[in-house]
Amino acid sequence: MPNTRFDARTQELLGGLRDSGQWKHLQQITTPIGPTVEVEGIGEVVLLCSNNYLGLANHPKVIEAGIEGLKQYGAGTASVRFICGTQQCHRAIEETIARFAGTPAALSYVSCWNANEALMPTATDADDAILSDELNHASIIDACRLTRKTERAVYKHNDMADLEEKLKGFRDKAVRWVITDGVFSMEGDVAPLPQLVELCREYEAILVVDDSHGVGVLGATGRGTPEHYGLMGQIDIMTGTLGKSLGGAAGGYVAAQRHVVELLVQRSRPGLFSNALPATIACSARRAIEIVEREPQRVARLHGNVKAIRDGLRKLGFECADSPTAIIPIHIGDTAEAIAKSRRLMELGVWVVGFGFPVVPQGQARLRVQVSAALDDSHIARALDAFAKL
Ligand SMILES: Cc1ncc(COP(=O)(O)O)c(C=O)c1O
Repeated sequence: MPNTRFDARTQELLGGLRDSGQWKHLQQITTPIGPTVEVEGIGEVVLLCSNNYLGLANHPKVIEAGIEGLKQYGAGTASVRFICGTQQCHRAIEETIARFAGTPAALSYVSCWNANEALMPTATDADDAILSDELNHASIIDACRLTRKTERAVYKHNDMADLEEKLKGFRDKAVRWVITDGVFSMEGDVAPLPQLVELCREYEAILVVDDSHGVGVLGATGRGTPEHYGLMGQIDIMTGTLGKSLGGAAGGYVAAQRHVVELLVQRSRPGLFSNALPATIACSARRAIEIVEREPQRVARLHGNVKAIRDGLRKLGFECADSPTAIIPIHIGDTAEAIAKSRRLMELGVWVVGFGFPVVPQGQARLRVQVSAALDDSHIARALDAFAKL
């Protein structure tokens, strides 16, 4: 049965997006994700918008491990973890994640979105309080909303004075929680972990860091934001994705003390009511992490590429803030203009996405350049040439 009110308001919304140039096109790619991809109807372009930071999404050994996993364990468990959904490959990926993150234990989920939504409502209680950075990823925001009965506050982005003020206001709470991205996905800046750790110690708060864009990128060996600051093992709870630098397929995790993981196994709803990570991904992501452990030169290559692209953009007159991350935002302001500029770059052979509202606040649209270790010098030269023409 058609519902005329729903249909009318949906058509109105979609029409508005089309008319104002904010329409998102789902470009079809005909090749695997690499330094370049073939886009249907456009041709080969240099890829500067994927999270394939270490170039492992199409690595032959990562693919081979996925195929072996598929053959050994089948397409899936047809079950959640606690029924018959735990295969040896799940223990193996979780031990590997814990080793890499430097935590006693880890638990996998089908995405980091799920990992965040598993953690926050399960770990927090009605007499706790949560403090969340205002620029945290949507999955953290939604995860905090799911806590419902727990008091929540948002502190200004990376503003430690504001956080401290708010922590003071929550002194009477049973447990204080502070949650932040390690690397902020739209700004490309890094959370000030040393100050966060210090504040959390002083106010006896539990620090949760989602390092989805930090892992594989920051630190000499790619162990992420904690390694960047020399704070490995000092963050209470880490969450992250396997869908970016660690193979790029999908999957997420919580890495923490064993009792935290045990609590999540017993109680977290995405774990209790949703299927396990497919074996294909458990095996391919594990191989990806092993490659990062064995080949820190990939991380060094990424750091070199980040510097080359950031320096090159600056020389061309683009304003790029200083940051060690692989995310370089170029602020434009107007959403339609950011989208138009990204289209022009595509015509020039480089794929950079323009982000506008509601992904970023109104008036703060930007082009987001993302760097990969897979890019060689010729890709970087092609990309900078396109920016010069833009
Ligand atoms: C900080 C952060 N957390 C979580 C996610 C979601 O990761 P996944 O794709 O594994 O759900 C992202 C992805 O953009 C992210 O940037």
